[in-house]
Amino acid sequence: MRIDIITVLPELLTSPFEASILKRAIEKGLVEIYLHNLRDYATNNYKQVDDYQFGGGAGMVMMVEPIDKCISGLKAERDYDEVIYMTPDGKTLNQSMANELSLKGNLIILCGHYKGVDQRVRDMLVTREISIGDYVLSGGELAAAIVCDAVIRLLPGVLNDETSALTDTFQDNLLAPPVYTRPAEYKGLEVPKILLSGNLPKIEKWRFKTA
Ligand code: 6GU
Repeated sequence: MRIDIITVLPELLTSPFEASILKRAIEKGLVEIYLHNLRDYATNNYKQVDDYQFGGGAGMVMMVEPIDKCISGLKAERDYDEVIYMTPDGKTLNQSMANELSLKGNLIILCGHYKGVDQRVRDMLVTREISIGDYVLSGGELAAAIVCDAVIRLLPGVLNDETSALTDTFQDNLLAPPVYTRPAEYKGLEVPKILLSGNLPKIEKWRFKTA
């Protein structure tokens, strides 16, 4: 999988890919992440990527031209399955959406900012709009990192134990069962006896029930 992320704040999107599972997925060559600073596609001397909105009103709008230049340049190099726009009024991310996206090859993710993008970007270039929940963030970057994490961990070979993504909370519309590790008793709180019993069929049943 290849993910190209278009942003005015690339520095917000470096550390999520430099640790743990996402880092290893990149090192293993299972996913390639490219960050594109939208300012590099600005067309005037001020490196301007946003402007006042027609009709008046508070807040800046991300201009269509730099975004089109960036996306068109990428599309000239390869085909993309989706151009995703991160926006609080998009469709809320859930596990089935993450599963669906994990089957794609090349994705572009555009991070929204300010009052959003010129509507013509959405009409002409964007194929899917995603939100991560009903609250407003300062920009789409952290939301994009969350989409990437949810999707990349599902790619074959990313998790050590191939079955572990299948037993995730939500993957089967169940929650995860409670889990425990040593010590078996802590401050008077004991691990459920059944988990120490060694009786695997009974443990499976208990886990299903508690999930
Ligand atoms: Cl994708 N962007 C912003 N700015 N806020 C959000 C969001 C996205 N999803 C939830 N809130």
